[in-house]
Amino acid sequence: MDGNGRWAKTRNLPRIEGHRQGTKSVEAVIRAAREIGVEYLTLYAFSVENWQRPTLEVRGLMALLMETLKRYAKELADNQIALRAIGRLADLPEKVRAQINITEAKTAANAKMTLLLALSYGGRVELIEGVRALARRVRAGELAPADIDEAAVSGALYTVGAPDPDLLIRTSGEMRLSNFLPWQTIYTEWYVTPTLWPDFRREDFFAAVSEYNRRERRFGGV
Ligand code: IPE
Ligand code: MG
Repeated sequence: MDGNGRWAKTRNLPRIEGHRQGTKSVEAVIRAAREIGVEYLTLYAFSVENWQRPTLEVRGLMALLMETLKRYAKELADNQIALRAIGRLADLPEKVRAQINITEAKTAANAKMTLLLALSYGGRVELIEGVRALARRVRAGELAPADIDEAAVSGALYTVGAPDPDLLIRTSGEMRLSNFLPWQTIYTEWYVTPTLWPDFRREDFFAAVSEYNRRERRFGGV
């Protein structure tokens, strides 16, 4: 979800107003995805690198996250959507973590869609933590090095149990992965749109899905 700052800048608004407007796109995209039967939707809300932003912006984003989680908890519950946060959650402020725990617990049994919210997420740190976990199992004698296969690595990541993404949508025209799900996206179809995230709504999401449906996926075959 990129382009909030630029959206605000072109309107001479503070960056946080771009983020606020972006939460409306979050709502629109969750609804649209749920409507067409998407089973897993991952939103990259805050990266490990984003902690480098000015304190005021980080605080504003955390406050917005709290507000949004509180506001949408009921809608998630009513629509059979389970929330699951992925990332270095221990980095988050205690209040935010508590709100996440509440919403996760409330929605855990929901089976129509899983909303993975990437918070303080970084693909490399995810791999490092996963590798450490596997190493501990090897040391404990529970796992032989030769048994470390793709499934074992996938199972040691924050995304354990979730399928690899079919489609990755990147807004604001940037052509880079930015540390997002590097292990999981090796054969994911990319859709890059110049539209800034706060302007990305229902119809834009459907346009991305339509384009995806026209792609031919060969996974390295013929
Ligand atoms: C949102 O867009 C990404 C978040 C970290 C929430 P940006 O804040 O990166 O917007 P730009 O790139 O400055 O336009
Ligand atoms: Mg950006």
